[in-house]
Amino acid sequence: MRIILNGALGRMGTEVDKLIKKGYKGITVAAYCDANSDIPDVYRKLTDITESADAIVDFSHHSAADELCGYALARNMSLVIATTGQTEDEKAIIATTSRAVPIFFSPNMSAGVAFLNAVVKKASSFFADSDVEIVERHHNKKLDAPSGTAKLLAETVKSITGGEIVTGRNGICPRKQGDIGVSSVRGGNVSGVHEVTFYAGNETFTVTHTAESRGMFAEGALTAAAFMKDKKPGLYTMTDLLGDL
Ligand SMILES: NC(=O)c1ccc[n+]([C@@H]2O[C@H](COP(=O)([O-])OP(=O)(O)OC[C@H]3O[C@@H](n4cnc5c(N)ncnc54)[C@H](O)[C@@H]3O)[C@@H](O)[C@H]2O)c1
Repeated sequence: MRIILNGALGRMGTEVDKLIKKGYKGITVAAYCDANSDIPDVYRKLTDITESADAIVDFSHHSAADELCGYALARNMSLVIATTGQTEDEKAIIATTSRAVPIFFSPNMSAGVAFLNAVVKKASSFFADSDVEIVERHHNKKLDAPSGTAKLLAETVKSITGGEIVTGRNGICPRKQGDIGVSSVRGGNVSGVHEVTFYAGNETFTVTHTAESRGMFAEGALTAAAFMKDKKPGLYTMTDLLGDL
């Protein structure tokens, strides 16, 4: 299959391109796109791309959602959105567009993180009255906080406990029973660490996922692109790809 790679010059775009050049799943690039390109081979705007392709793989910026969805609709292509940090309006555009084209949308393309999310769901029932705290660590260039994955994990806990998600504590803010705390650490070149702790009185349960390299997310995104071939319109997630874990 052939893809359009959006955000091609960024950290993740570069990883995806490296993997494709190694022949991963036989996928090839029909065209590269990056809003900040000054390279002739890399388009600056999706709408300038006329090469035929089966799917768009996006690791760019959340503000690209409208343009991406419009282009996917106009060309009837499936879309893999790996970018995080979308506003509620941008998420609504993605949901509406998915009625007409197949869209895979996941803040984390790692199968290991999907498994972490499944464990967190189970632990949220098992340690029902515990204090749940999520800590995520990422490199010093990451734009959004908390990470899309930390938000996903917090929503998973909330779906079981009904607690309130509390991010970025500052000043006098005592913990309330049921709060789901989320803290973000930024530094160095960390690919991504997510740690969820259940403080359950006499015992404490912690689960951690560490991304050792960005290659894992690139593999996940290309696996999702291959999975989307010939799919009907709809909004697909890691659960569709991996099944119930
Ligand atoms: N889902 C996942 O598993 C996963 C994993 C890693 C990163 N991400 C997300 O992917 C996104 C990119 O991450 P990164 O580390 O590569 O960032 P980056 O800043 O290194 O790269 C982003 C690239 O997108 C380009 N860009 C910005 N706005 C654009 C637009 N409107 N259209 C086209 N290109 C545009 C930039 O010029 C840049 O080259 C972030 O939102 C990040 O959180 C997701």
